[in-house]
Amino acid sequence: MNIAFTLNGKPQELTISPNEKLTEALRRLGVYSVKTGCNEGACGSCVVNVNGRAVKSCLMYAAQVDGGCVETVEFIGSLDNPHPIQSALVEEGAVQCGFCMGGLIMSAKAVFDKNPSPTDEELAIHLDGHLCRCTGYEKIQSALRKVSSGAAS
Ligand code: FES
Ligand code: FES
Repeated sequence: MNIAFTLNGKPQELTISPNEKLTEALRRLGVYSVKTGCNEGACGSCVVNVNGRAVKSCLMYAAQVDGGCVETVEFIGSLDNPHPIQSALVEEGAVQCGFCMGGLIMSAKAVFDKNPSPTDEELAIHLDGHLCRCTGYEKIQSALRKVSSGAAS
């Protein structure tokens, strides 16, 4: 079957099999930030934003984004022009191997897009389910607190 959707601001068409997961389709399109960790909805490394909502792309069929809008971390910032969430994570030393970061950043972006100043508790609720085996979470929390307070660049 054929699907058409917007991927990172650009129209995209793709021929897929009906049971192809969104993770697989994105990788075929060269979107390498979307990592498959557990492939069963438990780690959060595969999170992308679909129509403004953070979703686990390993649990979603590519067919479900037909006509929709998909954003990945490649879209929101770059080395030269990082998103404030990315800047804060780097400034706070919250990134080590980076495997979890694409998904975590997209979940955080979905939160901040709706509410620029979430509380620690709100952030914790929305980011529950993102596993990071490197950082111990405290630096991630302090980075996101920095964004929430408006102190991130
Ligand atoms: S790979 Fe999707 S939640 Fe772990
Ligand atoms: S930075 Fe390595 S898993 Fe999070």
